[in-house]
Amino acid sequence: DWTTGNVIEEQVAAIREQVGDKRAICGLSGGVDSAVAAALVQKAIGAQLTCVYVDHGLMRKGETEQVEKDFVAATGVQLKVVDAEERFLKALAGVSDPEEKRKIIGREFIRVFEQAQAEIIADEGPAVEFLVQGTLYPDVVESGGGTGTANIKSHHNVGGLPEDLEFKLIEPLRKLFKDEVRMVGQELGLPDEIVQRQPFPGPGLGIRIVGEVTKERLDLLREADAIAREELTAAGLDREIWQCPVVLLADVRSVGVQGDGRTYGHPIVLRPVSSEDAMTADWSRLPYDVLARISTRITNEVRDVNRVVVDVTSKPPGTIEWE
Ligand code: XMP
Repeated sequence: DWTTGNVIEEQVAAIREQVGDKRAICGLSGGVDSAVAAALVQKAIGAQLTCVYVDHGLMRKGETEQVEKDFVAATGVQLKVVDAEERFLKALAGVSDPEEKRKIIGREFIRVFEQAQAEIIADEGPAVEFLVQGTLYPDVVESGGGTGTANIKSHHNVGGLPEDLEFKLIEPLRKLFKDEVRMVGQELGLPDEIVQRQPFPGPGLGIRIVGEVTKERLDLLREADAIAREELTAAGLDREIWQCPVVLLADVRSVGVQGDGRTYGHPIVLRPVSSEDAMTADWSRLPYDVLARISTRITNEVRDVNRVVVDVTSKPPGTIEWE
């Protein structure tokens, strides 16, 4: 009989058996899968697990705090947070091309994560043998079965580490679909904000600013995005829409009028979509009054934004994200 209780019990036993008295590392992204995988492993081996969260400065408002505070409070997990905002901003300076941005963010992410791993191993010794991954069943099928080890090259000189570290993988979600992962997370006591989270891209807000990514623009987009999410949640629409990217057209300005003056500000794009699997999507017909509230609030509350537009393109031909 499939119950979340059974899945948890079975996985906890299997992880304990697999890990023994060794130690494990898990990267947290803020997403559902890594959070549930980490919580499950935490339940099994407690303090033998260390989680790593790389704060690249491209998260939405409140998301880093959700991991740092709420996730830790719910699980008691041992967490190492790496504040890498400056490093990412520096690497992204002057870059507008979407693919270039993605490459830079991916590259920096791996470097920072590996550095953190190396530090943990330097602290805790060679007992660190396992890496936790939130691989789901659809990922297993897609990649044709999967392996069981990961090679992590250590580029950084952290005293006396082997050049090439090999981790054994713990993948406690390998047999589960997304909705089952959410149920397991709920049963493990994770907050709804994490368990029910809609998809959010790894490169974060870095690919939701059309143009160069700067701290100022990120702050502005974070405000606009927080307003949109707040109003969508208040309207009870979170389950209905698949996700709603909020995009800043940083390289575009248009004329407006506000108070008794002319403005020359940026547009914000709302991109609400409905979808089953993100492969195809349709634009969501959001209620006009909800759109109106979001638009009024964003133009009133977010400096330098004087226009809100809605993206009414399906996928295909549009992708869900703008970059
Ligand atoms: P597109 O824009 O290709 O997005 O229609 C499809 C889904 O994938 C998400 N997405 C990403 N997720 N890393 C991720 O983890 C990425 O680089 C990335 N790019 C897009 C997007 O939010 C949507 O759910």
